[in-house]
Amino acid sequence: MWYNTKVTEQVGIAYPIFQGPFGGRLSSAELVAAVSNAGGLGGYGAYTLTPQEIITIDQEIKALTDKPYNINLWVSDTDATNGAVSETTYEQVKALFRPYFDEANVPFPEKPAPFKSRFENQVQVILDIRPKVFSFVFGIPSADILEQCRKLGIITAGAATTLDEAIALENAGVDLIVASGFEAGGHRPSFLSSTESSFTGTFVLLQLIREKVKIPVIAAGGIANGKGIAAALTLGADAAQVGTAFLATDESNALPVHKQMLFSDAAKYTTLSKAFTGRLGRGLANRITRETGNENAYLPFPLQSTFMSSLRSAAVQQQKWDMVYFWGGQIAPILKHTKATILMQTLIEEASACFNDLKV
Ligand SMILES: Cc1cc2nc3c(=O)[nH]c(=O)nc-3n(C[C@H](O)[C@H](O)[C@H](O)COP(=O)(O)O)c2cc1C
Repeated sequence: MWYNTKVTEQVGIAYPIFQGPFGGRLSSAELVAAVSNAGGLGGYGAYTLTPQEIITIDQEIKALTDKPYNINLWVSDTDATNGAVSETTYEQVKALFRPYFDEANVPFPEKPAPFKSRFENQVQVILDIRPKVFSFVFGIPSADILEQCRKLGIITAGAATTLDEAIALENAGVDLIVASGFEAGGHRPSFLSSTESSFTGTFVLLQLIREKVKIPVIAAGGIANGKGIAAALTLGADAAQVGTAFLATDESNALPVHKQMLFSDAAKYTTLSKAFTGRLGRGLANRITRETGNENAYLPFPLQSTFMSSLRSAAVQQQKWDMVYFWGGQIAPILKHTKATILMQTLIEEASACFNDLKV
């Protein structure tokens, strides 16, 4: 059957459908469990969590499902060398963003305190709690970490935005590759070349990787229905990762207004912006992305997020939606479902129908 692939066998799931993990506290244990219990692989984006918070979330997930699931981290989680921000950059950022803070009546934030990477401490927890799958973006964990995962039976999955990144992941001994296309919602997780030179779309990237790399590939970006899954599998993917469509379901931790926006006309217009975190990520275009789009004045990731956080809170409180970045991918305008289990069922039925039709 179409749904028996190398990945379903390796991971021990019924269907080759991954729920994309969401960082920034947009994942939820309920969503992970809903997808895993329906035969897919639920995923939790944990890169902003403390090690203790990851342990707590893991317990919550385990209370809701006994099926395999994925926990996701960012290997590189800061661009602030030594945590520092130069005065020149801070002054430029101040000049660019001050009008928004003034308009929302929010005191202008101080220069954010230095940031220290959390990955090393977070990954220790992953090794303790042993999720079936540990996925990561923005780099490759050390050979020692990958070796420990192998010994503990944790399957590793690394994101590639280019063929070179996929080859590097395979050479490092990673088990699965997530081919992360330009269409996808959220950050663009390039790590070998600049993000701006890594804009390949999902189906091209998938085919390039499929030709040159032997390990299983999961297609991510622009897939939100069963036809998309069937197309990805037909082009050689061993599974499809669906993000934005699950972000819009009741079970995700996104704000209700975020979900409404994903189902609204505003979802026709997505863009890539650094204005909200300092790294390039896809969400619904708004006033700030439009007005700051040509400037190159941002604090290094994640200090730009810290800097923008009080503006975001005020904008949410004052319902100034044109100042809030609602993350989402290019496929959002076709979304239909608000319940994760119904979405899973529909994805399976539609993909089955596609493969049945192909046989006729
Ligand atoms: C709000 C949001 C946050 C995301 N955060 C992460 C993350 O922390 N780690 C990760 O591997 N992928 C992350 N992604 C990517 C998704 O897991 C998934 O690969 C992507 O959404 C698939 O493309 P689609 O949005 O077109 O379905 C995020 C996506 C969104 C929309």
